[in-house]
Amino acid sequence: MDASQAPGPNPSPQPDTNDVFHTTDKVLADKLQFIEEIGFGNWGSVWLCRPRHNPRAPGADELSRLQSSRVAVKLVHRKKDENEKRTAETAARVKSLWNEMKIVRTLKPDLHPSIVPFYSFVVTPSYALITMEYLPTLVPVEVSEPKARHWFKSLLSGVDYLHKRGVVHNDIKPANILLSEKNVPVLVDFGFAEQYRLESRKAFLSNISYGTPEYLSPERARGLPHDTRKSDVWSLGVTFFEILSGRTPFENSDTEQFSTTEELERYWSRTLRGKWIGTWKMSRGMEKLLRRMMSPNADLRCTASDALEDPYWLPDAHPHRRSASDNSIAFEKEKPVTPVSWSRSTTAKENAASSPGLASYGLTESPSHRSLTRAKSQPKVATRGACC
Ligand SMILES: Nc1ncnc2c1ncn2[C@@H]1O[C@H](COP(=O)(O)OP(=O)(O)OP(=O)(O)O)[C@@H](O)[C@H]1O
Ligand SMILES: [Mg+2]
Repeated sequence: MDASQAPGPNPSPQPDTNDVFHTTDKVLADKLQFIEEIGFGNWGSVWLCRPRHNPRAPGADELSRLQSSRVAVKLVHRKKDENEKRTAETAARVKSLWNEMKIVRTLKPDLHPSIVPFYSFVVTPSYALITMEYLPTLVPVEVSEPKARHWFKSLLSGVDYLHKRGVVHNDIKPANILLSEKNVPVLVDFGFAEQYRLESRKAFLSNISYGTPEYLSPERARGLPHDTRKSDVWSLGVTFFEILSGRTPFENSDTEQFSTTEELERYWSRTLRGKWIGTWKMSRGMEKLLRRMMSPNADLRCTASDALEDPYWLPDAHPHRRSASDNSIAFEKEKPVTPVSWSRSTTAKENAASSPGLASYGLTESPSHRSLTRAKSQPKVATRGACC
C-alpha cells in the first residue's frame, strides 16, 4: 500500500513500503494461520499466528518472507455500520494502530533488544493488523533483585534509546513488558507512544494525562505541562518496584481499587508526597536509584541516561546489601487534592477487544473483556529473600 492509501491522519511518506500493504482477507488467511488469542487490550486483540509460507502466495512482501514459526499479530476489526460505512470507532482504532506502527517502524533500522521488533502492517477489508516478534512470557513480579537486575538495566537502556530518538512510550508498566525466549525483557504496546522532532522547541512537552493510573507521574496525572521523558522514567521506577515487590510503591495493598475519582485522587496525593507505603525488600543501592527515578519533583528526577550512570551499576557497589528501609511503614493521613481532568487514560480507553472474525477462514468469534490493565494480573515469582 502506498502511504496515501494508508489509514490515519497525514501518514508521512515511507521509503520502504514492502512492510505496509493492503491485501484481501483471503490472502491474509492464506499467509497466516491464527492459532490462539494471547492478549487483548482496549483497542483490539493479540494473536499467536503461524506463517504458512505459501510459495504460490502473490507478492514478495514481508508477510510471505516471515521466517519465524511464530509471530504475534495485534489486530483490530474494521467494522462497518448498517450503511456499509466504517464507524468512527473503527477509524479511531485503526488510527491508533497506525500510529503505533509508524513509531515502532522508525526504530527498525537499529533496533534495541528491549524494544519489540516490528515486521509489517497489513490492512484487509475486515482487519488492520501489526505483525511483530512473538514474545512468550509476561514479565513476572515478586522476583528477587539479583534475578531482576539485568532486566532493569536492559529496560533502562531501551527507554534511553527511545528518548534519544524522540520517542516516549507513555504507558510503561509490567503488563507491557514481555520476556523473549532469551530472557530479555521487551517493551511492547506503543499505542500511547509519541514521537517528537528532536530539533523542535516543543519536543517532549505535553499537558495530557493519559496512561495507567498507578504508573502516572504526579505532574502527568494532574495534566500539568511536563516533560514526557521524565514521566516515562517515573513509570519505569514504579514498574521496577513492582517487579521486586509485587505491588506498586503507593498502593496500600494489591487489592486496592481505583475506580472512582476519589480513590484516584487519594492515590495521586500519595505520589505527590513521594512516600512509599508498607514494606519492601531491596538493596540500598536499588532503593536510592528508585528514589531518583520516582522523585515527585520532575526537575529533581533523573533521566534514563542518568539512571544508567547511577552508582548502583558499578561493579564494586554492593547491590545486594539490604536497604535500611526494609521495615518502614508509612500509612499517612491523606491530604485533600485539587480534582484533575482526564483527557484519556487506559481506564478510559475503549474496551473493544474481540477476536478476529475470519470465520470463513477457520476462526471463531469469542468476546473478551478487560477493564483496567492491572499489574495485579502479573504472574508472581516467589521472592525467597534472595536479594539481601
Ligand atoms: N509481541 C507479543 N508477543 C506476545 N504477546 C504479546 C505481544 N504483544 C502483545 N502481547 C500480549 O497482548 C497483550 C495486549 O497487547 P498490547 O498491550 O499491545 O495491547 P493494548 O490493546 O494496547 O493493551 P492495553 O491497552 O490493555 O495495554 C499484552 O499485554 C501481551 O500479553
Ligand atoms: Mg498493553
